[in-house]
Amino acid sequence: MSTSADEKENAMPRTLPEGFVWGAATASYQIEGAVNEDGRGPSIWDTFSHAPGNTLNGDTGDVAADHYHRYEQDLDLLKELGVGAYRFSIAWPRIQPTGSGPAVQAGMDFYSRLVDGLIQRGIAPVATLYHWDLPQALEDAGGWPARDTALRFGEYAELVVGALGDRVHQWTTLNEPWCAAYLGYAAGVHAPGRREPAAALAAVHHLNLGHGLAGVAVRELAPTALLSVTLNLHVHHAASDSPADVEAVRRLDAVGNRAFLGPMLDGEYPGDLIEDTMAVTDWSFVRDGDLAVTPVPLDNLGVNYYTTGLAQQWDGHSPRVRADGHGDSGASPWVGAEDVDFLPQSGLHTAMGWKVEPAGMTELLLRTAKRYPGLPLMVTENGAAFDDAVDDDGAVHDAERASYVARHVDAVAAAIEQGADVRGYFVWSLLDNFEWAYGYDRRFGIIRVDYDTQERTWKDSARTYQRMVATNAVPDLD
Ligand code: FCB
Repeated sequence: MSTSADEKENAMPRTLPEGFVWGAATASYQIEGAVNEDGRGPSIWDTFSHAPGNTLNGDTGDVAADHYHRYEQDLDLLKELGVGAYRFSIAWPRIQPTGSGPAVQAGMDFYSRLVDGLIQRGIAPVATLYHWDLPQALEDAGGWPARDTALRFGEYAELVVGALGDRVHQWTTLNEPWCAAYLGYAAGVHAPGRREPAAALAAVHHLNLGHGLAGVAVRELAPTALLSVTLNLHVHHAASDSPADVEAVRRLDAVGNRAFLGPMLDGEYPGDLIEDTMAVTDWSFVRDGDLAVTPVPLDNLGVNYYTTGLAQQWDGHSPRVRADGHGDSGASPWVGAEDVDFLPQSGLHTAMGWKVEPAGMTELLLRTAKRYPGLPLMVTENGAAFDDAVDDDGAVHDAERASYVARHVDAVAAAIEQGADVRGYFVWSLLDNFEWAYGYDRRFGIIRVDYDTQERTWKDSARTYQRMVATNAVPDLD
């Protein structure tokens, strides 16, 4: 091909393959509100957000985007956006207020109406069974570090899939177990706010086991639905090519990525992970037979990608550098790799302090596709928080967010061109929402929520995304 033809091709907007799934994502606690309605029990996020000092401005999910009452209107937004799929999560404490026992009908009915509303609008429901709102009663009994929580999760999955499995197109067992385990039980910056590294590793295993048990329930009760799990796989680069920095990246990969990929896809924990964490735990919570349950066959792997990290082995005496973008409680989420530093990076960053690096998306998808050939991938979250300015006429010209989304979809298209089998992309998020420890201060929505009036307003990024969906292509980038 001549150079000019090359240039011409590069200048063309990239298109996505036919059948590519365009979607938008949310999560129950972040949008629903209505925390005391229809028999819902308290979750660990209710408790955590109500305890002083845990969230910015003391924000809680009590009202959030009031989606529980406004879901019809939100479904209309999805319809207007043109997306083919909507990824939402089911609040376990709406189904089982204390994490066990029969389903609360009113809670199930809400999700049933949501699913029907999606189907009526021609949108495929993609349901996540666990996006972090563990029933508080289960935390009181030990939480994810306790084996029983995994067993309860399997039972909860049976109830939900039994009720909705005839209509839900795709089931995702867990969202980002990395956050649930390490931010919740090691760093303590997420609910339940514990700082116990050994418990965090036990949580890792019980989340993996819960994934397997829930997956088996999906396979049995909804045999034609697709089964997946969503992982926030990390892309870390070594700050130098020194053996120590390269080794630091290996350890982050073990505890951050392979602690989940291993049991879920290979049926084993990586040997180097066990060695790296020997001083923390002996892994005796892994029982015979568990690793036959965790690798339940998946139809696709959900990948959430936002940023990259630059890792350096701490030399033991310089001041510590912590910029891994997950808040700093003084306790590291990187169990067994606490002595790794995360260096500040140059270039554009989002309001979360996360570096904008679309190339990391391509790298991650290609790397995962190469490691697990034959397993389709889905980008189940990607998006950005920026400080939105609202014009007098109510418009939000969020060019940075629009560009972030377009550049990352472009990076997905690049990965596909290079051979990765990526089936879809879900923007995070449909709506501004409760961004966990950052409360309402960080806005990820492509649609603005005015928290005083609950009014929804399309940001420019939503219009850009709508065009992308309609044309199945990435718009011209600046
Ligand atoms: C992910 C979470 C999601 C949202 C985004 C910004 O880690 O899955 O709920 O908070 O980050």
